[in-house]
Amino acid sequence: MIKEKAKIAVFISGRGTNLKALILRSNKKTCNYKIAYVISNKRNAAGLKIAKKNQIITKVISQSFLKKIEQKKLAKILINKNIKFICLAGFMKILSPYFLNFFKNRIINIHPSLLPKYKGLNTHKRAIEAKEKFSGCTIHYVSKKLDSGKIIAKKKVKIFKKDTLKKLEKRVLKEENKLYPLVLEKLVRS
Ligand code: GRF
Repeated sequence: MIKEKAKIAVFISGRGTNLKALILRSNKKTCNYKIAYVISNKRNAAGLKIAKKNQIITKVISQSFLKKIEQKKLAKILINKNIKFICLAGFMKILSPYFLNFFKNRIINIHPSLLPKYKGLNTHKRAIEAKEKFSGCTIHYVSKKLDSGKIIAKKKVKIFKKDTLKKLEKRVLKEENKLYPLVLEKLVRS
C-alpha cells in the first residue's frame, strides 16, 4: 500500500533556500513528505515566489498575528489541513507559547550555529570573532526560549584561518540545505 505523504507547513521571512531544498526533496517519488503550505510574515519574501512556482498554497501573516485570536485561526487552518510538522526556515518572528501549544513537539527550526553556542543573530560573525575552529548548523525543536529547544541534528563546518563571513555563510548554508530535508524525512518516518 502506498502511504500518503505527510503534510508540512514551512514558515519563512526571506530568500527561502531551505524552503527550496525541502521542496526539491519532496518532489522525489520516494520522499515521505510534501510541502502543503508556506507562511511568510513578509509580503515580499523571495521564498513566496519559490512556493508559488511549485503550486504551493501561501499565506502572508501581518502584525495582527500578535493577537491570540489570529494565532488560533492559523493553528486551526493548519490542523484542518492535517499538517504533521511545521518547519521554520529563516522565519524571523518568535512564535508565542500559545501558538506552540497547538503543535507540541511538531515545530522545528534550522539555526546557523552549533547550538547551544551562538543563539540569536550574527552567528557566523560571532564564531569567527571568537576564533572558533568550527561553525555549522543545528536543527532543533522550537520551544518557548529562543534557539533552546531539544537538538535533533547538527552539521559541523570548518572555519578556515582566512575565512570571510560571506564564504563561511555560503558553506554553512549549503550544509543547511542538505541537512534539513534529510532530517525532516527521518522525523516523518519515526
Ligand atoms: C538560514 O541561515 C537559517 O539557518 C536561518 O535563516 C537563514 C534562512 O535562509 N534561520 P533561507 O531563507 O532558507 O535561504
